[in-house]
Amino acid sequence: MSKGWTKSDIGDLSGKVVIVTGANSGLGYETCLALAEKDATVVLAVRNLNKGLDAIDKIKVHYPNANLHAMSLDLNDLASVKRFVESFKSKFNSLSILINNAGIMAPPFQQTKDGFESQVGVNYLGHFALTGHLLDYLKKTPNSRVVSLGSLAAHKIKPEFHNFKGTKKYKALKYYGQSKLACMLFAKELQYRFRQHQIDSKSVACHPGISQTNLFAKGSRKLTRKLTRTSLKLIGQEAETGAYPILYAATEARVRGGEYIGPDGRGGSKGDPIELDIIDELYNEHVACNLWKLSETLTGVTYNFK
Ligand SMILES: NC(=O)c1ccc[n+]([C@@H]2O[C@H](COP(=O)([O-])OP(=O)(O)OC[C@H]3O[C@@H](n4cnc5c(N)ncnc54)[C@H](OP(=O)(O)O)[C@@H]3O)[C@@H](O)[C@H]2O)c1
Repeated sequence: MSKGWTKSDIGDLSGKVVIVTGANSGLGYETCLALAEKDATVVLAVRNLNKGLDAIDKIKVHYPNANLHAMSLDLNDLASVKRFVESFKSKFNSLSILINNAGIMAPPFQQTKDGFESQVGVNYLGHFALTGHLLDYLKKTPNSRVVSLGSLAAHKIKPEFHNFKGTKKYKALKYYGQSKLACMLFAKELQYRFRQHQIDSKSVACHPGISQTNLFAKGSRKLTRKLTRTSLKLIGQEAETGAYPILYAATEARVRGGEYIGPDGRGGSKGDPIELDIIDELYNEHVACNLWKLSETLTGVTYNFK
């Protein structure tokens, strides 16, 4: 398929508007850097505007003419998601690629403004609402794409989507895995619904293996102790190459929709981006459909495919 695929395989992206959530650091930042190199118009959707502006300054050191815009988006708050979309639509007329990248891992127990366990709320439900609000733009932009971030942490677990508030017996890593599994099932289900309604948009999932980013440092202290920067270096990869599965999912012409892209080496922790079968083992139509219904109810965002 794609042996040795790198960001230099990305074609010209001029004229394409791309939103990257969590764009100011880690994989999101590296994704924006690579997209800027290919002349995409990139909207850095960030919860802290100053961090977004700093990221733009850093990218402009490499690509001074890059077309970059920082906009506020707090996935912890569905009202902020709505405001972001209103503001985006007032500035742009199309959306070629939506990269639902932002995420948190294993924080102490907390709930989002709308009362969801924070990882489920930020990693999954916030992106579900964001994508739903942007569906009209995705539909009207030819060949648009939605990219969702999964994780190795979701590969060996069973769906348990009955308590998104997380109040009883909170286990931080368990909720992280569930939130990422939800993102992966959402990606598959969205592709199914695009096809069913003959919409030419594509939905693709991906995971970055284990990448050296801030994700681990911000999580619970127990986890941070386990995965120090040194051990991350040994088992994982740099953020730049960790972003390749995202970039592949977002831009590669061979993508048909419904794939899951991840690294090919060392138990999936690092390597070149390839298509992985595991998503088909994890996907269950009934579970994904129920998750969709639940997500529409919880977020109040109904997808209109017609
Ligand atoms: N690194 C890995 O090994 C790994 C493995 C599997 C999956 N992933 C996934 O990759 C994605 C990117 O993570 P990363 O590794 O690049 O970690 P990161 O460096 O910590 O980046 C996470 C980004 O998400 C943003 N974010 C957090 N909460 C947010 C909120 N409420 N609203 C909007 N943005 C928010 C962060 O903003 P602030 O800077 O303001 O906090 C940051 O920009 C995540 O979805 C993660 O689950 C990563």
